[in-house]
Amino acid sequence: MFKPLKTANTPAKNTVMHEHELRLAPNIEALNNELARFDMEGATIALVPTMGNLHEGHISLVKLGLELADAVIATIFVNPMQFGPNEDLDAYPRTLADDIEKLSAAGCSVLFHPSTDEIYPEGIPAHTQVSVPGLTDALCGASRPGHFDGVTTIVAKLFNLVGPDIAIFGEKDLQQLLVIKKMTDDMGFPIEIVGAPIARAEDGLALSSRNGYLSPEERAIAPELQRQLQNIERSILAGRHDFEAMAENAKDHLAETGFEPDYIEIRNRDDLKLASEGDKRIAIFAAAKLGKTRLIDNIQIDLQ
Ligand code: PAF
Repeated sequence: MFKPLKTANTPAKNTVMHEHELRLAPNIEALNNELARFDMEGATIALVPTMGNLHEGHISLVKLGLELADAVIATIFVNPMQFGPNEDLDAYPRTLADDIEKLSAAGCSVLFHPSTDEIYPEGIPAHTQVSVPGLTDALCGASRPGHFDGVTTIVAKLFNLVGPDIAIFGEKDLQQLLVIKKMTDDMGFPIEIVGAPIARAEDGLALSSRNGYLSPEERAIAPELQRQLQNIERSILAGRHDFEAMAENAKDHLAETGFEPDYIEIRNRDDLKLASEGDKRIAIFAAAKLGKTRLIDNIQIDLQ
């Protein structure tokens, strides 16, 4: 059933064949038909996995994919395995018709949008899971038990089904990106993982499908999350390294502004351990609830 993995992986454009007609693959059989066409043409493929309700951030991933490969296969699958029992699986926005229009306009080649039964034919408990240790212990891994097992399971399955040359993920979910990179290395997938910069609204709020849950009042407060991260960034660049104190201070500010902070932490980007003085590749990670909406954001810093 699975398409065999490619053995050679040179994520470069082989042909100039951007199609502007989006082709729909609602199941694995239709996907395999599209893949057969690409194989015949020797086209390189960029995979852009999503859960739909597409915004400018997702579209920037598709556009990056078209710069790096001959064709982009986007996927839309609201993956139940990565939602906890009290999370927003049922409420998660499903806007397929609108998403198809946006992907078409962006020049995406194929949309794979399988049903839950197609992906988990025997149900979720019966399905094999792919789990990455270590990097998933902290941050969202600690707040959302089982979440990353759901993410790595679906991403590994998509990698096997599509066999892309590259796969593109947004840096807003930086922990997810690092976890997927490790999973790809550990499992020997011949796929280059590319991170794409965070797309932001004019007031700095990181674009997210969940922003649609915010009331107008909450939407006005939401950019404060990014502002707190910027304050910490400025302090770090000015030489401060009392990381825990800075993070606590930012959490207090957020709580005063109406957020329910989950975490603000400054961590080493290589192993996701809490950063200490002397670490060069770090990131400030934040997650906070505003009303019912959980927002996440981060800023990466490279110190000299
Ligand atoms: O980032 C997302 O939208 C999801 O976690 C992903 C990578 C599509 C897996 O379901």
